[in-house]
Amino acid sequence: MATDLLTAVTARYPQSEFPALWWQYRTWSSSRPLAGMRILDATPVFANTMAKYLALSAAGARLTVAVNPTLPSDSAVVAALPGLGVPVTSEPSGEFDIVLDCAGLHADVPSGFGYAELTRSGLDRYVASAKPVLSVDSGAIKRIETTLGTSDGFVRAMTSLGHPIPAGAAIVIFGLGKVGAGVAHAAARHGARITAVDPVPGQAERVAVKLGVTMSAVGPDDRALVLEAVEDAWCVVAATGVYAGLDSYADELSASSALLANMGAEDEFGPRMPPARALNGKFPVNFALPEPTLLRYLDATMALSNACAVELATSDLPPGLALPPVGVETELLRITREQGLITDEIDDLGGFT
Ligand SMILES: NC(=O)c1ccc[n+]([C@@H]2O[C@H](COP(=O)([O-])OP(=O)(O)OC[C@H]3O[C@@H](n4cnc5c(N)ncnc54)[C@H](O)[C@@H]3O)[C@@H](O)[C@H]2O)c1
Repeated sequence: MATDLLTAVTARYPQSEFPALWWQYRTWSSSRPLAGMRILDATPVFANTMAKYLALSAAGARLTVAVNPTLPSDSAVVAALPGLGVPVTSEPSGEFDIVLDCAGLHADVPSGFGYAELTRSGLDRYVASAKPVLSVDSGAIKRIETTLGTSDGFVRAMTSLGHPIPAGAAIVIFGLGKVGAGVAHAAARHGARITAVDPVPGQAERVAVKLGVTMSAVGPDDRALVLEAVEDAWCVVAATGVYAGLDSYADELSASSALLANMGAEDEFGPRMPPARALNGKFPVNFALPEPTLLRYLDATMALSNACAVELATSDLPPGLALPPVGVETELLRITREQGLITDEIDDLGGFT
């Protein structure tokens, strides 16, 4: 299995694109820390996810990939996986030793050693878990994906959808968390005039200082100010992480001349917004791309999810939510910075924290 996967991955990506997963592949090929372990992996399946499977297979895992219609995936890659020795299921049955989950979709699948969860929102389904659950979303590593990766993905998506960001465009961003900060980062590099809408006092200001960009901050309840910004906007971006988070503005957004771009996993524009009114049918705009987030930005996150499998298998963790060990994250960050392609971007961001 590993040989076919190795060919599939290295034919597509240089090692510098995935230094952390490549390090795991090389190290685990001899140490085999997951030998014989039945692992269910529910990371959204794209070509770059094969690099994650490569490391798990090298570790000796008996890997099954879970696909779920509520998560985006590349159907050609899903179809190719069994031929590469990686079984795929849409209805996992029986018990696994470890579940590497996304969006909490497999919290009910029995797991002997426990779970690692990729998303913050998915943790809600694990709060009462009787098994150890490691959160992959809570540390510095996730910022590489969400801030730098979505910044790059947003720019590539808008270009690919026929709307490259015009210099000096007016952009309204709802939600200035990790993903919204990534969009702001991209927008600022195009000289955009940014209006940030976030209910947390000081959130937009903190992001602005951190990224070294200028933006106007407005609360979502400052209706007149929000509508003034929407009226002037080239594009309105949703990144709140909340289903229907922009619903109270659905009528005005729909009637406006602004492009509407969702970056969140949920339908943030809400049920009253016709799918055709927003780019990519209200799905995250970067998921219109064959590679929504480049492997170089996902490498450390996927490696941390894999490392959580080893941690679950080898440590006697108590039940409940926990963070991955700090030392594991530090080591993966070091490899990413020293051997990857994004050292300058990480430095531009002011480091990892
Ligand atoms: N498109 C991608 O490639 C990609 C990648 C990673 C995550 N995501 C998704 O993006 C979404 C955001 O993720 P995140 O990590 O930035 O979340 P986050 O929790 O870090 O940030 C969300 C921000 O939205 C704000 N917010 C909440 N409700 C709001 C409202 N009604 N109006 C304005 N702001 C509001 C919050 O105060 C917070 O600052 C999630 O759905 C996540 O799954 C997408």
